[in-house]
Parts: sequence; structure tokens; C-alpha cells
Amino acid sequence: MATLQLYFLLFLLNPLTIQLKSQLLPITTTISVLDFGATADGITFDTVAIQSAINQISSSGGGTLNFPTNLSFLTATLFLKSGVTLEVEEGARIIAGVREEDYPPEHRLWYLIVADGEKNVGIKGKGIIDGRGEMFVQRKDPKKNIMVSWNQTGNCNGDECRPKLIGFLDSTGVKVEEINLLQPALWCLHLVRCNDTVIGGVSINGDFNSPNNDGIDIEDSNNTVITGCKIDTGDDAICPKTYTTPMHNLTVRNCWIKTKSSGVKFGSGSWFDFKNMLFDNLTIFDSHRGLALQIRDGGDVSNITFSNIELRTRYYDPSWWGRAEPIYITTCPRDQSSKAGSISNLRFVNISAVSENGVFMSGSEGAELSDVSFVNISITYQRWTDFAGGLDDYRPGCQGLVQHNSTPGIIMEYVSGFEIRHANMRWSHSSILNGWNNPLQFRSFTVSNLSFHDLNLSI
Ligand SMILES: *[C@@H]1O[C@H](CO)[C@@H](O)[C@H](O)[C@H]1NC(C)=O
Ligand SMILES: *[C@@H]1O[C@H](CO)[C@@H](O)[C@H](O)[C@H]1NC(C)=O
Ligand SMILES: *[C@@H]1O[C@H](CO)[C@@H](O)[C@H](O)[C@H]1NC(C)=O
Ligand SMILES: *[C@@H]1O[C@H](CO)[C@@H](O)[C@H](O)[C@H]1NC(C)=O
Ligand SMILES: *[C@@H]1O[C@H](CO)[C@@H](O)[C@H](O)[C@H]1NC(C)=O
Ligand SMILES: *[C@@H]1O[C@H](CO)[C@@H](O)[C@H](O)[C@H]1NC(C)=O
Ligand SMILES: *[C@@H]1O[C@H](CO)[C@@H](O)[C@H](O)[C@H]1NC(C)=O
Ligand SMILES: *[C@@H]1O[C@H](CO)[C@@H](O)[C@H](O)[C@H]1NC(C)=O
Ligand SMILES: *[C@@H]1O[C@H](CO)[C@@H](O)[C@H](O)[C@H]1NC(C)=O
Ligand SMILES: *[C@@H]1O[C@H](CO)[C@@H](O)[C@H](O)[C@H]1NC(C)=O
Repeated sequence: MATLQLYFLLFLLNPLTIQLKSQLLPITTTISVLDFGATADGITFDTVAIQSAINQISSSGGGTLNFPTNLSFLTATLFLKSGVTLEVEEGARIIAGVREEDYPPEHRLWYLIVADGEKNVGIKGKGIIDGRGEMFVQRKDPKKNIMVSWNQTGNCNGDECRPKLIGFLDSTGVKVEEINLLQPALWCLHLVRCNDTVIGGVSINGDFNSPNNDGIDIEDSNNTVITGCKIDTGDDAICPKTYTTPMHNLTVRNCWIKTKSSGVKFGSGSWFDFKNMLFDNLTIFDSHRGLALQIRDGGDVSNITFSNIELRTRYYDPSWWGRAEPIYITTCPRDQSSKAGSISNLRFVNISAVSENGVFMSGSEGAELSDVSFVNISITYQRWTDFAGGLDDYRPGCQGLVQHNSTPGIIMEYVSGFEIRHANMRWSHSSILNGWNNPLQFRSFTVSNLSFHDLNLSI
């Protein structure tokens, strides 16, 4: 026995083992961006210095590139390379260039910081990465800002031709921790076909009135964990989408959200399946929609849990999608060439909501919502803004906005298999004065297999 232990001890201390280990694990070095000649004055472009530091760290096996405190670094697009973590210290700031020539010619790479096909890349530190979104506001409008669009060159169409802040494309082992992301011109943090991503303690502050100011867009990516985020922005805060492959295993926990659109939104880009996802311990404050599935392109959604969520939804200007629904579950074909994906095995547990509108559940013919459950749900219906109610919102595509004239507590159509267990629905006086009528309303012949246990309605 003693010999065996000694043998292990010798093995552990063997210089050969140590040497092997150091070859396997890259030596983690930290290098200051100042050593590469960054001016750090926030006025001169430091792109060349920063990029050569990234390249050198990556080619020598990886490490951390440090941006020291109290300094500002103006830059055009940076390409993050394998093995490199950017560490933006508290008080330090990376500032985005706002000219079209500050971004690469290919529209798909329009990010301030982008990793394209890399491994083990990250961003950390308590500093700031600032997209200067305010420079992209052409005309301020408290309803919805009119934004600058770089669509003159034919690089992209429409009014969404603006750079995103941070993108990880086709990358594995992504870590984004603690950082403060400010004022993206378009989406803020975008994952595309990534695997094994951790996003922790990230704070996002966008413009409440700017369209497409999404928080975190998780697209076609597997095994993503998001925890402890704080998102205060104009457009969808946490937004899973599928365009090219199915997406599995997304966990989102312990986040605080405020948005003029949806707190959590599936879609509307929804060409492939969404599977095995958990949203737990979220606070969604004064948002246009709480928990939303906006499936329009045929992808199927299954095994999704929303638990321990407190939310408050209110109306904003109807130019934004959303009508104050605390929970919104819809699937319909976007247009004549689309099909409706299925939505099944959806659980809502321990949800507490104060809301200006009811729950909206709408499947489609041949794509009924199935196996949906609400357990331990408390909803207080109340009105405190003056925006008109009584509209069903099927946007984008489908039936658009439909005049309905009443405001039920829960609307159901094309639902097959829905269980409510222990729910309290409470109406405040102001809500009754505002056209609230049926607690539950279902379009007959499209709804089956409902079961209600311990459902309490009160005023
Ligand atoms: C950074 O700025 C803060 C506030 O002005 C100051 O207290 C701190 O000493 C500065 N740190 C360094 C390393 O210059
Ligand atoms: C370009 O963007 C502007 C501003 O958002 C928009 O009004 C216009 O329709 C867009 N033009 C094209 C060709 O996409
Ligand atoms: C994610 O997992 C699904 C299911 O296994 C797979 O089809 C898809 O290609 C994966 N995506 C990526 C980016 O690896
Ligand atoms: C993605 O994650 C899965 C599950 O952890 C793993 O089997 C697979 O090798 C990963 N893919 C890549 C490209 O790292
Ligand atoms: C999803 O997570 C499960 C459990 O950890 C794992 O077995 C599965 O491979 C993951 N799926 C993908 C596509 O990586
Ligand atoms: C829930 O999330 C909040 C942050 O929004 C956090 O402060 C709290 O500790 C979390 N609760 C649990 C039980 O993890
Ligand atoms: C459902 O998703 C959860 C993650 O939220 C996962 O742990 C569980 O294994 C999944 N169930 C099935 C049957 O795949
Ligand atoms: C719901 O809340 C109760 C406490 O009120 C807790 O015991 C239970 O674990 C929670 N359910 C989930 C799925 O988190
Ligand atoms: C619902 O709430 C009760 C009482 O707090 C709790 O015992 C039960 O575990 C909850 N149900 C779920 C599915 O979390
Ligand atoms: C009714 O729905 C429940 C789930 O809510 C499901 O388990 C059950 O199989 C369904 N029954 C029929 C007859 O469809």
C-alpha cells in the first residue's frame, strides 16, 4: 500500500509529467495592449495595435489581452482569435468606430468584435464595450427612433443595415463574463452555430427607443448557459432563433430584464427545431411582452420550461411587436410559402405576473399547441397606461393585428392538451372598466383536452 502511494507521488512529481502538462495546457499569459503601441486616448484608432496583439497571443498558444483601467480604446472591427480572452478592466472602455469603413466589406462580419470559426475565446473584465448606438439614430422619436441605415452600397437591404456589437460565429468554448455592453447600433451579443458557451454576469444597456436593439440572440447554437445577466434595452432581450440547424440545450438563469419588446422570445426566425431549454429565476420588468414563442417558419419546439419568473407587462406604442401579453405562445405560417411548426411539452411553473393584457395561446390548424402546462401561476390583470387594448397580435405575417374588442384572461385557439394546476387570476377594478370580459376564451372546435385544477378567479 505504502509503495503504491509513493509510486503515485513520484508519478505526480515526475518532471516528464509536468512537462507534458505544460505542453497540453497553454501557459496563460496576460499582455497589456499598451505594449503593442495602443494610444489609449479614445480618439485615435487603436485597431492595428489591438489586432496585432490578438494575433500574436493566439499564435503563441493563447492568453489574455489586458485593457488597463481608466483608458479608452477607439477601434474598428476586431477579429478575436482562438485562445484569446480580452480583459477590459473596470474603468476601461472599448469604443466602436461608427463609419461604414470601420467594418469589413462582408455584411455577415459587421460586428465591433467578432470571432469567426475560433475555439476558446472570451471577453471578461468589468469594463465597458460601447457601440455608440446614439450615433446611428437619425431622428429621435419616443415612439420608435428612426435609424441610420448603411443600405446605399447594396451590401444589405432595408432599414436594419447597421453593425452588431459582438458576434461569435461557428465557435466553440465561448466565455463572456462580467462585461458591460453599451449602446449597440443593432443587436448586442450574437451567437451563431456555437457550441459550449457561457455568458455570466453580463450587463447590457441599449436604447429603449431604438428598434433591433436586441440583448442576446442565440442562433443555431448548442449547450449555451446564460446566468446573472442584466438587460435593459429596446428590443428582444433573450432571443433564441434557428436559421440553419436545430438548437438544443439553452439554460438561462438569474436574469433581470426590461425591454420595449419581449423578455424572452423564440423566433421569429424559426426554420429548425428548438429543444431542451430552461428559463429559471427571471425578473421581467415593464416590458411589452413577457415570455413569448413567435414560431413562423416550421421549426418544432419541445421540452421547454419557464420557472420562478416574476413579470410585469404593459402596453407601448403598437409599432413595437407585443400587446402586453405576459405569456404569448403562437405558431402560424409567416406567409403562403411557410408552414407552422409544432409546439409541445411546454411548462410554466411558479409564474407571477402583473399585466395589462391576457395570455395569448394560438396554434394553427394541423399544428395545435400540445402538452402545455401552467402550474402555480398568479396573474393580476390591471390597466395603467392609456394605449388601446382589444387587439390580437399575430405579427409578423400570419393574420397581423386583428381587432377583437375584448380582453380575455387567457385566449386559446388550436390547442390540444392544456393543463392548469393551482392558478390565481385576479382582476383589478381598472381592468374591468377597460373592457375585460371573459376570464377564459376559446375558439370552439379548435380546442380540446383542457384540464383545470384549483383555478381561482377573483376581483
Ligand atoms: C482610475 O480613476 C479613478 C477615478 O477617477 C481613480 O480613483 C483611480 O485611482 C484611477 N486608477 C488608476 C490606476 O489610474
Ligand atoms: C434604407 O434605409 C432607410 C432608412 O432606414 C429606409 O428608409 C430605406 O427604405 C432603405 N432603403 C433600401 C433600398 O433598403
Ligand atoms: C446542435 O445539435 C443538433 C442536434 O444534435 C445538431 O443537429 C446541430 O447541428 C448542432 N449544432 C451545431 C452548431 O453543432
Ligand atoms: C459540441 O458539443 C457536444 C456535446 O458536448 C460535443 O459532443 C461536440 O464535440 C461539440 N462540438 C464541437 C465542434 O466541439
Ligand atoms: C444536450 O445536453 C445533453 C445532456 O447534457 C447531452 O447529452 C446532449 O448531447 C446535448 N445535446 C447536444 C446537441 O449537444
Ligand atoms: C435569482 O436571480 C437574482 C438576480 O436577478 C439573484 O439575485 C438571486 O440570487 C437569484 N435567486 C436564486 C435562488 O438563485
Ligand atoms: C428537457 O430539457 C431539460 C433541460 O431544460 C433536460 O434536462 C431534460 O433532460 C430534457 N428532457 C428530455 C426528455 O430530453
Ligand atoms: C416552485 O416554488 C416552490 C416554492 O414555492 C418550490 O418548492 C418549487 O421547487 C418551485 N418549482 C420549481 C420547478 O422550481
Ligand atoms: C407549486 O407550489 C407548491 C406550493 O408552494 C409546491 O409545493 C409545488 O412544488 C409547486 N409545484 C411545482 C411543480 O413546482
Ligand atoms: C391530454 O393532454 C395531456 C397533457 O396535457 C396528455 O398527457 C394526454 O395524453 C392528452 N390526452 C389526449 C386524449 O390527447
